Amino acid sequence: MARVLSCIQPTGPVHLGNYLGALVNWVSGQNRNDVFHGIVDLHALTVTDKPGVIGDQTLQLAAVLFAVGLDPKVATVFVQSHIPAHSQLGWIMECLAGFGEASRMTQFKDKSAKGGADTARVGLFTYPMLQAADILLYQAHYVPVGEDQRQHIELTRDLATRFNARFGETFRVPEGHILKAGAKIYDLQEPTSKMSKSSGSAAGVLELMDTPEANTKKIKSAATDAGREVKFDEKEKPGISNLLTIHSSLSGTSIANLEKEFDGKGYGDFKGAVAEVVVEYFRPIRAQALELLEDEKHLIDLLHEGADKARVVASSTLQNTYKNLGLVK
Ligand code: AMP
Ligand code: TRP
Repeated sequence: MARVLSCIQPTGPVHLGNYLGALVNWVSGQNRNDVFHGIVDLHALTVTDKPGVIGDQTLQLAAVLFAVGLDPKVATVFVQSHIPAHSQLGWIMECLAGFGEASRMTQFKDKSAKGGADTARVGLFTYPMLQAADILLYQAHYVPVGEDQRQHIELTRDLATRFNARFGETFRVPEGHILKAGAKIYDLQEPTSKMSKSSGSAAGVLELMDTPEANTKKIKSAATDAGREVKFDEKEKPGISNLLTIHSSLSGTSIANLEKEFDGKGYGDFKGAVAEVVVEYFRPIRAQALELLEDEKHLIDLLHEGADKARVVASSTLQNTYKNLGLVK
């Protein structure tokens, strides 16, 4: 069975874009592969200032991961900070990476440019090396990620190859598995930019844990386009096209059939239908996540069990790395 690893940051509520772009794939992959999924709280420290926030978001995210269908008996779901080997191998990756190659990471350039380069933290710069450690510790064959992570996977492959060449075969060189852009979801208010945690306004983002009323309101006030025909046309009708993608992805009805169904009806009717599909789809997920959050001890136990499984693999890779480096035992 192939070993598959992917991680997600606990930096905010899970939205429909995360769900369709990543989590659906995680869930469907768990019975085909040996899957490891990390909630990377140490990565999230690059943007936090208040105690407790990352911890709360970690539990929220864990509840959603289990509620959407990751089965703790099958998938290894863990919290990064529970496994010190991540930080330990992260340092070794920092010692292997060149300053020049790290400086070329576009995510760092984008994120640091947003806040002004002087306010960016060192951790944001070294973050891709910690990510490389996340992946290499588990000897993963495949790493399913969005297009935005392609460069980090390339760096991981370069670092693994370099280490193996210098110190002997230690890491499997993983393959990125770039998830197809088919399910790319856009912001409801600004349908030309992707739905994202860092969106300007929450009104454009459909969160899995939002109340049915809140999500209905967001969909009904989604930006629409000129005209009144429900037709998929990303150039002329980005708002309606996005809503068609959302409906189709969750209901399984093809976009062509939705166009037929809403032929001659206005945007209002169509938005009502989209809201219903979204709300009904999220309803059981939200209920299950709320139930998990109610029993925090049990939720944390599930994460500890995941960490126990992950730790075995991670420690063994780290020990082997130290050995191949020739550190004193
Ligand atoms: P984030 O933590 O927001 O970077 O998202 C984690 C993962 O979710 C990304 O690597 C993507 O695979 C996926 N994702 C996030 N936003 C979207 C979106 N609007 N449409 C499709 N996939 C998305
Ligand atoms: N950098 C990824 C993101 O922003 C999150 C991440 C951290 C990750 N470590 C990883 C993804 C390891 C895949 C594998 O989405």
